[in-house]
Amino acid sequence: MRTHKIAAIGADGIGPEVINAGLEVLNTLARVDGNFAFEVEHFPWSSEYYLKHGHYIPEGGLEKLKQFDAIFFGAVGSQEVPDHVSLWGLRLPIAQGFDQYANVRPARVLPGVKSPLRNGEAIDWVIVRENSEGEYAGHGGRAHRGLPIEVGTETAVFTRAGVERIHRFAFELAAKRPRKHLTLVTKSNAQRFGMVMWDEIFAEVAKDYPEVKTDRELVDAVTTRMVLKPQTLDTIVATNLHADILSDLAAALSGSLGIGPTANLNPERQFPSMFEPIHGSAFDITGKGIANPTATFWTAAMMLEHLGEADAAKKLMAAIEAVTASGVHTPDLGGKATTAQVTKAVCDYLGK
Ligand code: NAI
Ligand code: MG
Repeated sequence: MRTHKIAAIGADGIGPEVINAGLEVLNTLARVDGNFAFEVEHFPWSSEYYLKHGHYIPEGGLEKLKQFDAIFFGAVGSQEVPDHVSLWGLRLPIAQGFDQYANVRPARVLPGVKSPLRNGEAIDWVIVRENSEGEYAGHGGRAHRGLPIEVGTETAVFTRAGVERIHRFAFELAAKRPRKHLTLVTKSNAQRFGMVMWDEIFAEVAKDYPEVKTDRELVDAVTTRMVLKPQTLDTIVATNLHADILSDLAAALSGSLGIGPTANLNPERQFPSMFEPIHGSAFDITGKGIANPTATFWTAAMMLEHLGEADAAKKLMAAIEAVTASGVHTPDLGGKATTAQVTKAVCDYLGK
């Protein structure tokens, strides 16, 4: 029996709702398969925990997390805590502290789901987001606070090592996909330093992957290409901020934010990787039992892949697609199903 140790951090809003749904599906999968199991530990770190204790991650918390094979993460963000405090208090210390520099975000229109695009079925993308530096490096500051001359700086930090490793990761991934096509997204017309370095390093790394076709797009232009010519894109590599924005657009174009999954990978496996839906806490639907758990299920499939359970990952993807195709949809997809009903439908399919 193979045992996978999972740290579950539901955190805020609909996070715990979708993570519990995800664990239900994972446990069903393990029970049906019989050759692997999950050992899950729940961590109560959330904004509520922060308001009570003054921190999201307690002393020694990251050390504890290191002992797990993967982290299954919901969403962090609360109306009672400023967003930059919650993000920098929980998600970023894990992603950056565990050097999860490759953020992989697939987007596809699942069967039975309607894209707002006319030719949405052409969407089959993987966005590779640099996840350790760039605009989210945390470099900046404020001076003359509260005075008319107040200044705030936010410096993007790009290192050769950081840029080269994300390009290499993106090329490796593009090479494994049928179309073997990689689009570099930067803003190197307006931003002359870090972005031009991104372009240069991309061209250097490209020499090692002659089988991968490449092209380049500015970040503003790529948004129009995503909407008007989705079939011309396959794998996309972009900076932390740019890819963050593009992947929300990708999720919306694929039908809903409630579908998009993501893996925060430490490809060298020196640290556990973290798997989460791309959506946030969704205050407007928290506690109503109608959060779409599909993003979390797809995320769970990515986690299974990472844990070496490729067959189980395929089975789970097939179950997810059978359920979306059958029309069991939550309200974000225009349906009436609850989180529990979608979860049950996926579990029932797996148990068949
Ligand atoms: P959001 O993703 O929470 O919600 C945006 C819209 O999408 C809302 O109308 C929501 O109901 C809908 N939505 C999102 N996930 C859904 C799902 N699974 N099923 C059905 N509908 C869904 O983004 P928003 O409103 O910008 O942020 C809310 C909070 O979440 C903020 O505090 C923000 O900082 C945080 N956040 C956290 C993230 C993370 O932990 N990785 C990512 C994005 C936002
Ligand atoms: Mg985002």
